[in-house]
Amino acid sequence: MSEDEHPPMAPYLMKGESFSIRPVRRMDEVRSITEVIRKAWDLTDLENIATFEMKAVADFGVVLMASPNENPFQAIGFIYAFPMFPDRNYSHMMGIDPAWQGKNVGFELKMVHRDLALQHTNPQINEILWTVDPLLPNNAWLNFGKLGVICKTYKINYYGFPEGVGIYSGVPTDRFLVQWQIRSNWVENKIKNVREGITRNFPMYEQFVDDEAVLGLIENSKPVKKSSLAEIMKKTETTVVEVPVNYQHIRETDTQLARMWRLFFREICTTLFSAGWIASDYIRARDEKGTFHNFYKFSKEATFSKKVEE
Ligand SMILES: CC(C)(COP(=O)(O)OP(=O)(O)OC[C@H]1O[C@@H](n2cnc3c(N)ncnc32)[C@H](O)[C@@H]1OP(=O)(O)O)[C@@H](O)C(=O)NCCC(=O)NCCS
Repeated sequence: MSEDEHPPMAPYLMKGESFSIRPVRRMDEVRSITEVIRKAWDLTDLENIATFEMKAVADFGVVLMASPNENPFQAIGFIYAFPMFPDRNYSHMMGIDPAWQGKNVGFELKMVHRDLALQHTNPQINEILWTVDPLLPNNAWLNFGKLGVICKTYKINYYGFPEGVGIYSGVPTDRFLVQWQIRSNWVENKIKNVREGITRNFPMYEQFVDDEAVLGLIENSKPVKKSSLAEIMKKTETTVVEVPVNYQHIRETDTQLARMWRLFFREICTTLFSAGWIASDYIRARDEKGTFHNFYKFSKEATFSKKVEE
């Protein structure tokens, strides 16, 4: 594509060994992102982002693309975000080409978005928000484990019940509205832990099994409550609940089980959030055989805020 047809590409904001990140300016970049959306979510054209609209948001909001170093015009990942009055950004979508998932592209895109937001003055940006299916384990680990988001808002069936719409089919579209408080010590520490490899020191699963503050574990792929929510709220200020490491596979192969998980987790979140608790972390634990187990951690908001200030 010649530069007569497109403006020059914007300078890179991050250059890594195999991929780089820059703001989107050109229509061929925009079109390449719509291809990532199609692949990452398996969506139809109706749910994709209209190209002229994305161009407008690229100019007046934040649209970032990641591309392989050997092919700067092929998008392999993107962020599509816009300002929210007065001091927040809303990151409507982040998607990574399935061939590039699990390679830190999502994390680095968020780092660039955060850097841009931190540089913004008048008004200062303090928080970036987005919605996410809380049961998708890679999203949850990236968001809570690596980036340090928190959540206190649960949206029931946010996009309705879109039968036949890509990766969301068959199960109510409940979402977390997560908050990424980009200037907090909590977030700083999480990022430092990723950079220093500390995030990979996984705790042992066995420590959770007999712990009284555990709300639930998984037995035969199903959720099993170890304590009632009422008991937990009476006797502790934090709790954890095990959630599937393979939720996407469950959704694709056993819709009934996927719905059971949705309703089980919905009840926990709506009850705890309305009592002033928040989802504060996501833990990957390993058992003696080396198998991973994932847990959400919930905390009383006051307890969590105190811990973060320490
Ligand atoms: C969610 C998404 C954006 C993440 O991007 P990504 O580039 O794969 O993210 P990263 O590689 O930075 O982080 C993913 C982490 O999840 C981990 N992970 C993968 N499967 C996991 C599982 N079952 N349980 C726990 N963690 C898991 C990866 O190992 C990686 O962590 P690590 O770096 O500590 O090893 C990407 O998978 C995607 O596009 N999904 C489809 C669209 C979507 O859901 N978008 C987000 C909502 S708008």
